[in-house]
Order: sequence, then C-alpha cells, then structure tokens
Amino acid sequence: MYLIRPEVRNFQPYLPGKPIAEVQRELGLKRVVKLASNENALGASPKAVQSLRKNSQNVFRYPEGAGTILRRALARKLGVRESEVILGAGSDEIIEILGKTFFNREDEIVVSQHAFIRYKMAADLLGAKTIEAPMKNQTHDLQAMFRNVNRRTKALFVANPNNPTGTYVNRQEVELFFSNFKPGQLSPFLIFDEAYYEYSKELAPDYPDLLNYFRKGYPVVVLRTFSKIYGLAGLRVGYGVAPQWVVEAMDRVRPPFNVSSLAQSAAIACLNDRAHIQKSLAIVREGLDYLTQEMRRLGLPTIPSVGNFLMVSVSPLLGKNLFQKLLRKGVIVRAMDEYGFPNHIRVTVGLPQENRFFVHCLKEVL
Ligand SMILES: Cc1ncc(COP(=O)(O)O)c(C=O)c1O
Repeated sequence: MYLIRPEVRNFQPYLPGKPIAEVQRELGLKRVVKLASNENALGASPKAVQSLRKNSQNVFRYPEGAGTILRRALARKLGVRESEVILGAGSDEIIEILGKTFFNREDEIVVSQHAFIRYKMAADLLGAKTIEAPMKNQTHDLQAMFRNVNRRTKALFVANPNNPTGTYVNRQEVELFFSNFKPGQLSPFLIFDEAYYEYSKELAPDYPDLLNYFRKGYPVVVLRTFSKIYGLAGLRVGYGVAPQWVVEAMDRVRPPFNVSSLAQSAAIACLNDRAHIQKSLAIVREGLDYLTQEMRRLGLPTIPSVGNFLMVSVSPLLGKNLFQKLLRKGVIVRAMDEYGFPNHIRVTVGLPQENRFFVHCLKEVL
C-alpha cells in the first residue's frame, strides 16, 4: 500500500457502461440492448469495416508511430497544419496526455459542475486540484468558470456538449468568454472537448466553431473522436488540435505506438464517409424527438440534448434503482450518481426498435 503513489491511493476508477455480454452472462438474457455508452447505434462506418478487413494481415507490424497519414488527412479536412494535430487512443487518452505533459502538483484546472469526469480524473492522477464552477440552466457557465481562473490555473475544460447533460455553450457565450483573453497572451489552456461535434453542429444552429479561435491564436485545444458518429469506439482513436509547441510537447510524452495500425487506417477510410454520418445523424435526430416525447408522456422531464444521448429525470425514484430494474429486462442505461444526479438516468439514442424497447421496459418498471 505504501508503495502506491498518494494520488492513486484514493483514486476512483471510471465506471464504464455495462457490456452486453456481461449482462447476458449474469442474467441469462437473450435480448440485451445497450444504451449506456453513447456509441453509434448504426455501428461503424462501412468504409472503416472494409479497411479493417483489408488491413488485418498487417497487424504483425508496429503502427506508424507518428500517424502521419491520418494527421495529414485531418489537417487538410480541418484547415490546420499537420504539426497542430495530435492523435490518441480515443480522445480520452489525449486528456490524459495533456495532464501528464502540463499538470504539476500545485496547478489547478477549472471545470464545470456536472462536467465529464475524465478531466478531474486526469488532474487527480497528477496531484493537481480541480475547481468546479456552478452550472447555469444545466449548462456550463463559461463566465463563472472564468471567475475561477487564477495564477495557478493551467487549463479550463469545456465539454461541448457536456456528457452527461447534453447541453452546450453557444456562439454568443463563447464569444463573450474569449473576450476575457487576448490571442498570444499568456493564459491557461482553453480545452474544448467536442466528442459529439458531428451531431451538435447539425442539431444546434448556434453551435460555435472553436477552430476559428484556435486559428486566431488563442491557446485553444480542440478534442474530437472517431468513437461517436464514426462508430469506432472499440478501435480507440481520437484527435486533438493544438498549437504546434503543445503538440510537440505532448508527442514527447505519448506512448510511441498509442494508436494501432488498424485504428489509423480505419479512421482514414471513414473520415469523409458522409453517407454514414448523414444516416447516423438522422437516427439520432429522430430518436431524440421520439424519446423526449415519450418521456413527456410518462411525466419524466428531460434535458434538451445536442448529443446522441438524453438525460431523464426519474425523480423521486433513484436512477440506480431504475438502472437495475431496466437491466433485468435487458436494457442497459446509465445511473448518474457519479455526476451528482442521483435521480436521473442517461440513455443513449438507439435504433428505432431499441428506443421502443427501452420505452416499453421503462413503462413496465415504472
Ligand atoms: C465528452 C466526452 N469526451 C471524451 C470522451 C471519450 O471518448 P473516446 O476516448 O472514446 O474518444 C467521451 C466518451 O464518452 C465523452 O463523452
């Protein structure tokens, strides 16, 4: 025990959504629908799957460590330089690399109350302190976050939209927030986690373009992923856009082969798969409407979401009890205790028949 770093002694691991096979095994169920990890219900982009088949015989080779081709493709698509793109085994790994590269024990990070929990975990692991600013209307309050900036602040993390609330900060709020900073001036990192970007930019007409601020020279880091709309959560590949000196520093810290060869080639193959993106978007748009309406009928308030998931208040019931009851029926959702919402569940938008099954089971357990 004494050999364990003090930061790790009380470290609470991340609670992932329950896997389907585990639920089938434990409960002897045939039909299990997983609506717990904000995966793409339609599955992976067919272009990615084709690439996996084609490239599988090359797995005896180490991946290209620098991920040059994927970085180049991303840079071209995003209108940034290749040297401004970093790859990770999911955007999750990039959060951790940011921590390892930049957080000291005396540093602070600022997050919002109810924010995606991995930012705080990265800080905890490095012994840095996390300051939580209150939310406003269940959304990140950027000005409140800014009020918590001081000399020790290393980074502000903004999940846009936030997981689990599904809420986002809009163009106007972001503009006001950036008026607190000047390009090129010394300031903390302003990290915008856009894991659900491809959904949000279509679902929210006033969804902000953070790369614009990056291009203007603010110390912005934008994180995105292939885990969500591209449907590659199991492959583990995400990326970040950051100033070149930031990418260079992080590249020194990241494991040399952090993104597998299959993940790299699949990501390249599906990067411009517009058909899959459009289909996935349509499923989510329709699913959000359907679920919101059905919850309203059941008297369960929801939080409007621009991601592929929805937070549902089940008050006065406990989310974890409902989670257990739904599990026994073969529907995996998420209880929200770790996010400070004991009376909510979060449900990922599934295929129409999966959504219907969820609603059917929910009615039964209620
Ligand atoms: C806001 C947010 N950021 C980052 C991630 C991590 O995604 P990945 O590591 O699969 O790219 C998630 C996953 O659920 C998320 O919701």
